[in-house]
Amino acid sequence: MSIISPVRERFATELGELAALTDSSRPGWTRRALSEEDVAGRDYARTLMKQAGLETRIDGAGNVIGLLRGRLGGREIMLGSHTDTVDGGGRFDGITGVLGAIEVVRLLRENDVRLDHDLVIVVFFNEEPNDFGLFCVGSRAMTGLVDRSTLAAVDPTGRTLAEALPESAIDPEAFLNARYDFARVTAFLELHIEQGPELERAGRQIGVVETITGINHFRALFTGRQDHAGTTPMDVRADAGCAAAGTVLAVESIAGSGENTRGTCGQISFTPEAVNVVSQNAVVEGEFRGPEGSWLHEAQRRLTDAAAAEASRRGVSVEVEWTTDDAPVPLHEPVTSTIASVADDLGLSRATMFSGAGHDAGIIAAKTRVGMVFVPSVDGRSHCPEEFTDLDDIMPGVSVLLETVLRVDRWYAG
Ligand code: GLV
Ligand code: MN
Ligand code: MN
Repeated sequence: MSIISPVRERFATELGELAALTDSSRPGWTRRALSEEDVAGRDYARTLMKQAGLETRIDGAGNVIGLLRGRLGGREIMLGSHTDTVDGGGRFDGITGVLGAIEVVRLLRENDVRLDHDLVIVVFFNEEPNDFGLFCVGSRAMTGLVDRSTLAAVDPTGRTLAEALPESAIDPEAFLNARYDFARVTAFLELHIEQGPELERAGRQIGVVETITGINHFRALFTGRQDHAGTTPMDVRADAGCAAAGTVLAVESIAGSGENTRGTCGQISFTPEAVNVVSQNAVVEGEFRGPEGSWLHEAQRRLTDAAAAEASRRGVSVEVEWTTDDAPVPLHEPVTSTIASVADDLGLSRATMFSGAGHDAGIIAAKTRVGMVFVPSVDGRSHCPEEFTDLDDIMPGVSVLLETVLRVDRWYAG
């Protein structure tokens, strides 16, 4: 089945309409989970799903779920991605996969193709890290990875997730009971922008993801002593800010020790925040990523030790909490080889990829066979306003997604 020109126009219009549903007080295209804009973004996606002919519902965890009934039913192919963004994010991360999945539905219907499987489209709630130290929240709820400790997570103001969810029309009890029955799902597929430079550098059109990175997030809380910046000699200070700064540099140094390994501290705060006061408290939030679980565990251990050493040599105390410990996820055969053959048969160049970005697909992979299709990112930029992928580069990804759905449909075994 070939892609026809209205697809490109529809995609451009919808990308623009979603880009308008963002927080105008923030840079870039900001639609953070648990914000009004995020509710509006998921509502918009639901409207598109209904117009495309899907029966839609919102589950207990805020995931928008659309259903296109198949000829035989009973078994499902699931597609999905997210519409929330990071602060100051772009227009393509997650959104490409949501609009691409809805296009697959339209193309099937416009070409009078009825699958044997039911086709299920999911717009996952809250893929990006929220202020409660959690990410891939909707997909974790669907796979049974949330419990009362998830609801008890606190943001920097001390508010719990249980208190915040109702503002997005999510009932905390329903959230705990949003498990999905993945026994029916033959495969899950996610189309996504690469968010890195490899496809563009290699001049390839399609990335076939082999492994999704493991991700360990931490929060380190340093407690020192508040003092006068001018009168307190350097050797008697207990400067929580300096211990935090040493820990940030330790993350950088540890992350340089592996292949395809990364370490980042994207959040740091000092209290009190005053130029002439030695910090009493400091909080650093950061993460390690990489393709090997053993390296990630070693990095955790080294960082916990480094934070303790940075603190103790300054008379500061520290608590390091590891808020997520997600192992690397190998994606599944025969889904990945099917995506590769589809790309070859459509005459598209391809590369096998490691994903340094996290995805809901990595969570769903615990429950069913999963494959991911990447399309190139200009200059490899992402999680920034400059994030861009030309529609001419997205359309091949939609074609691969559609054709992969058609091939997986042949695996129906009631
Ligand atoms: C999600 O976008 C992540 O990789 O952090
Ligand atoms: Mn992202
Ligand atoms: Mn994403």
